[in-house]
Parts: sequence; structure tokens; C-alpha cells
Amino acid sequence: MAAPVESPVPAGQPLDGHAVALKDYLRISHLSRRDIELLLDLSGEVKGDPHRYSGLLRNEVVAMYFSKPSTRTRVSFTVAIARLGGTPEMLGAADLQLGRGETIEDTARVLSRYTKAFVIRTFSDEDVARFAAASTIPVVNALTDGHHPCQALADLLTIREKLGRLEGVRLAFVGDGCNTIHSLMEAGALAGVHVTVVTPPGYEADADVVETARTMALQTGGSVETTHDVRAAVAGADVVYTDVWLSMNVDASEKDARIAAFGPYRVTEELMALAAPGGIFMHCLPAHRGEEVAAPVIDGFRSVVFDQAANRLCTEQAILVALLTGRLEGVGRWA
Ligand code: CP
Ligand code: NVA
Repeated sequence: MAAPVESPVPAGQPLDGHAVALKDYLRISHLSRRDIELLLDLSGEVKGDPHRYSGLLRNEVVAMYFSKPSTRTRVSFTVAIARLGGTPEMLGAADLQLGRGETIEDTARVLSRYTKAFVIRTFSDEDVARFAAASTIPVVNALTDGHHPCQALADLLTIREKLGRLEGVRLAFVGDGCNTIHSLMEAGALAGVHVTVVTPPGYEADADVVETARTMALQTGGSVETTHDVRAAVAGADVVYTDVWLSMNVDASEKDARIAAFGPYRVTEELMALAAPGGIFMHCLPAHRGEEVAAPVIDGFRSVVFDQAANRLCTEQAILVALLTGRLEGVGRWA
């Protein structure tokens, strides 16, 4: 029995003057299909005209709390906020009174009174959900142990730009069943993509997320499959995608066991040769050449990883614009 798609987090602003908009961007399964289309179109719009919404955050501040490292997300959000006319306030794990016992809820209530939005990268999805529930400003998940919804939007935009379509695209994710593929499988499902997730035994994606994505795919003609057979998964794929074998939430003591288990799942030139003609290679970055991907693949002609990274900027700008103007409708209004 498929698990129901989760309810959106508590809603906030009016949508089109009557309905209620989705307040936060925490997980792709909170979105409707129309939301994804709107966000992709808005991303394309701001990519073409980066200063189109430059008054939206004028003289306002967006709080950014990062308790894990980041290169792309942190810097692209900083630039996105600047392009919207605002100022980012960077907060590390040691900066807030959270570290001295103040509750998440009290922190959320206070920051809601100063800032216009909160971008958070941390470990626990539950902590982010608590923050969103207690705040009155939009909250954006900038990566948790379970999800990476900002990355998934940039991934979809990149696929649409490179292949000219999303519906019917065959995507093979090779590697660890982690946050990146959780969000990508939900996003792909909403966009009509055929997603195959191939992992070593014991490193599968979360079963509840797979079921949620399958439920979403039923609405769009997409599909979600899981397997351990890497060659079969990649054969004929339009997109081959991988991520690191040790995510930031994984203990370093697991490294040797993971390298042994994941060895057959490295994306090599020989594996890429099984993909469709014109098939592309994607990676959220940071990458470890010689581990999850061979250098000639990530540095080769099929790789789109730097255009993919570039698309983080316009998609994050679009997420902020959509939330701040109450344009996301949330789940339950499937197109
Ligand atoms: N892909 C991604 O989120 O990169 P960072 O960890 O550098 O932000
Ligand atoms: N799965 C990786 C993604 C990094 C952007 C991690 O969580 O470390």
C-alpha cells in the first residue's frame, strides 16, 4: 500500500487573494506539479533577467543558518538574496543561543520578527520542520540528512535545458540512497521522469520516500524503480547521476566499508558507454574523482556538472521569489 503524500507544512500567505499558499520549501513532495512548473519557469525568467525582482528584499535581511559545510548552496543563496535587493545574515552552529539551550521554537519566533526568510542547512529534518512550524516567515531547506530540495530544482532545470524535455526522460541515479536522490526522485516523479535508483545492497533509498515518489509518479506518467543491477539501470539512460559515497551525516568510520561496497557502482567511461546516445552525466558536487566517478567522465563531454551548479543560483532566486510572493499552492491541487 503506497504511503500518502505528506501534508504541506502550515500555510501562511494568501494565494491569488483567496486560497492559501505553501509557506515553506522543505521537501519536494510538499509541492504540486504546477508548483514545479511555476518554479522552473520562474527560474528561467530570472536566469534571463537576474535583477527582475531586485526590489523584493530591499532593506530586508534573510537569515542563513548552516551547521554543515557548503560551497554552492551558501554562496548561491548569498548572491540570490543580493540580487533580490536583500542582505544575508550568515549564522553558524556556534553563533546562536540554540547552542546554549534556547529552543528551536523560541529562535523561530524571534527571527520571524526580524527577517523575511530563513534558509537552513542542518542534520535533522525534524528540527527544520519544527522551525518552520513555529515561524511566520518562509523557511527553506538548504539540505538535511533526508532531503536536498534546492538541488533537485536545479537538477530538473538543467535536464530540461540540456535535453529539451522532462516528461519521459530516463534517469539512472547510481550510488548511495541519500538526501540528493530522495529529493531528485520526488522531483522527477512530479515532472514525469522515469527514475531508476541503483545502489549496493544495504545502501538503498528510504522506503517511505520511494513510496511517496511512486504515489506522485502515478499522477504524471513518471515512474520510480529501485535495483542493485548497475548495468541494467544505466542501459539506455538519458541522464546518469551520482553523488558522494559518504554524505556529510555519515560517520567517517564507515569509509572503508563503503568504498568496498560502492566500488562496482563507480561511474566509469565503460558504464557511461551503456547510456543513451546523447546521454548526460550529472553530479550535485562536491565530487571525489576516482571514488563515485572516474575523472574522464566528470571532466568529459557528457558532463554538465558546472552548468548544473550554475543553475543553483537562478533556481534559489526563484524559490525565494515564489515563497515571498505566496505563489506556491502546495500539494493536493494536481494539474
Ligand atoms: N550541491 C551542494 O549542495 O553543494 P554544497 O554542499 O557545496 O552547497
Ligand atoms: N549527499 C551529500 C550532498 C552534498 C551536497 C551530502 O549530504 O553530503
